[in-house]
Amino acid sequence: MELQEAIANRRSIKKFKRDMRIDDTALYQAIKQAADAPNHGMREPWRVVHIAKDRLGTMSKQLSEIAFHNLPKKQESHYEAVTNLGGMLALIVKEDPRQKENLENHMAFGAYAQNLMLLLHEAGIGTCWKSPAYIFMPEIRDMFGVKDNEKLVGFLYLTDLEDKVLHRSRHVDQIIETF
Ligand SMILES: Cc1cc2nc3c(=O)[nH]c(=O)nc-3n(C[C@H](O)[C@H](O)[C@H](O)COP(=O)(O)O)c2cc1C
Repeated sequence: MELQEAIANRRSIKKFKRDMRIDDTALYQAIKQAADAPNHGMREPWRVVHIAKDRLGTMSKQLSEIAFHNLPKKQESHYEAVTNLGGMLALIVKEDPRQKENLENHMAFGAYAQNLMLLLHEAGIGTCWKSPAYIFMPEIRDMFGVKDNEKLVGFLYLTDLEDKVLHRSRHVDQIIETF
């Protein structure tokens, strides 16, 4: 697949109404290949926790108990949505106490994430990066083994590519100024 074609056609998939399967071997390959992203000092400030298809239900129940305590409707809809996925990744960035290095780490994570989403798109796996407010809850961080010097920056929902998703065009004529 051409790079430009992958960039233009990758879309965030937001429908999880059908039971989906993905190829975990292709997933693991993409997770490793994506690490060829630029990162200052070769700190490689990224890692993921894979929640495989058969673990999604257990994960959802645990997560919902914390994030949606006493909200049975929300717990139910989370369970229904995520158990339809082909899997999920918890996205974890390494933090740095130094301001500049910390910024670099977060930017590098973004580069890693785009690499990963493009490689997965090429492998026939759809994605949506989700950043719900509960990623900051200490109990949710603990659930995924996020350490004190790390930040949970979201979840990558993994889907098949059966749905057609609209391309929302960008305002590219406004992004260049001349000096
Ligand atoms: C850091 C980040 C966080 C995001 N968080 C969410 C989210 O919490 N929920 C969601 O539905 N989409 C989320 N998205 C997906 C964006 O909304 C999506 O990229 C946007 O709708 C553009 O669509 P496209 O990816 O199909 O071009 C996130 C994307 C990024 C890069």
